[in-house]
Amino acid sequence: MSGNSKKKDAQKSGESVTAGAALWHGRFDVAPDVALMHYTQSLSFDQRLWHDDIVASKAHVQMLGKVGILTSSDTSAVIAALDQTHKEFEEGSFEFVETDEDIHTAIERRVTQIAGEAGARLHTGRSRNDQVVTALRLWCRREAATVAHLAIKLAETLHVRADEADSCNPPLRLPGYTHLQRAQPVLLSHHLRAHGWALLRDVDRMFDALKRLNISPLGAGALAGSSLPLDPHFTAEQLGFAHVFHNSLDAVSDRDFVGEILFVVSLLGVHLSRLGEEWVLWTSTEFGYATLNDAFATGSSMLPQKKNADIAELARGKAGRFIGNLTGLLTTLKGLPLAYNRDLQEDKEPLFDSIDQMQRALIAIEGMISTATFNVERMQIAADDPMMGATDLAEYLVRNGVPFRDAHAIVGAVVRESLFTQQPLEDIVRAHPKLGTEAANLLAPGMAVKMRTTPGGAGLAPSAIQREQYVAEIDRMKGRAK
Ligand code: ARG
Repeated sequence: MSGNSKKKDAQKSGESVTAGAALWHGRFDVAPDVALMHYTQSLSFDQRLWHDDIVASKAHVQMLGKVGILTSSDTSAVIAALDQTHKEFEEGSFEFVETDEDIHTAIERRVTQIAGEAGARLHTGRSRNDQVVTALRLWCRREAATVAHLAIKLAETLHVRADEADSCNPPLRLPGYTHLQRAQPVLLSHHLRAHGWALLRDVDRMFDALKRLNISPLGAGALAGSSLPLDPHFTAEQLGFAHVFHNSLDAVSDRDFVGEILFVVSLLGVHLSRLGEEWVLWTSTEFGYATLNDAFATGSSMLPQKKNADIAELARGKAGRFIGNLTGLLTTLKGLPLAYNRDLQEDKEPLFDSIDQMQRALIAIEGMISTATFNVERMQIAADDPMMGATDLAEYLVRNGVPFRDAHAIVGAVVRESLFTQQPLEDIVRAHPKLGTEAANLLAPGMAVKMRTTPGGAGLAPSAIQREQYVAEIDRMKGRAK
């Protein structure tokens, strides 16, 4: 029998795993069926919680020692066994066995193997229900913070590129679009920072989520607490949690923090998808506004001339996956009775997937944007399309006392004349009785961004103010990270 078919056979129902090996063997006549183990296990995906589980277990054991439930020698023995287990994971020598249903049972099994009876005391006053969610909160606290840091980094890169664009002479400009039709020219720095502001809101939201996540559920037991004199405040403090749960039922069934993180990642994913779509357009021959560094572009297996913006496309594409993960989790939670239900095990894969994908996305997109080249000439030619000065002509008339609606109609007619007669807009404006040379000068290259003076606008003067506000917001986010 080949190795493969052996494995297949072992998955058939009717076979049991090693008798007496399940954690709950006392109450059961027979060992779990292999089919049950294969279906219900979470080890294949929750292994990555090993570090957080060990850290939380150490805090739990220290608490048991402190309140006198464990003797100091048992406490030391269990701590030493947990440390050894930690080392085995680090070195990659930890061995799982068939009955390890999840990472938590695997670690407890190993600790008991190492520390004997003392190890068998590790789970005193604890259930996997509070254990799982403690480890998961610890994991989220670290990994979601990494997402926030990577998003700050991308926001900083946009800022660096924005400063670079402004330091060109003249500062780089491109058409701003509405309905994906050329509307009014904007500074490139303004456009880049527009995406940055959205990212900084995502970072702010992630830190809000992290604040609410900062609660220790350890000590809630299976659902109702314990008759033993546990000290949840001690474990919370050991683990660096700011608060302790108020209600044991809520503590073991609350997955709001997973939902919040998945939402923040989804919205961040949506923002990246919008940025990604623009880069797909910008790097196309039709737009030609930017060229990707070869290291951040892909080629085609068949078409030798191709250079594709796959990072930008995936930034667009992965948004669906993030939203799917959020939707999946919310659907799992919907209608669940209190308190722990096995359904909750379904929280992990979407969470891990979204965090993994988002961390990779942020790193790749940052690399793509920091190394790309802006095609100054293409952008400028497009930005200087005189048609985009139409609003400035209308506002010129407004300054001369013409009601805006009338001004709009006058300029509209001038635009139409230019389109139908193929005569340059400037010439028609210059000859127009209500417009003239002063108005025609407004259509000169670069004028429009000089004219945009209102706060938060796309012109040079407000842009300098925005720059300072942007820097302050990045600093505020860095402050939140501490
Ligand atoms: N691995 C499970 C999870 O991630 C924990 C199992 C808890 N099982 C139980 N019978 N209480 O949610």
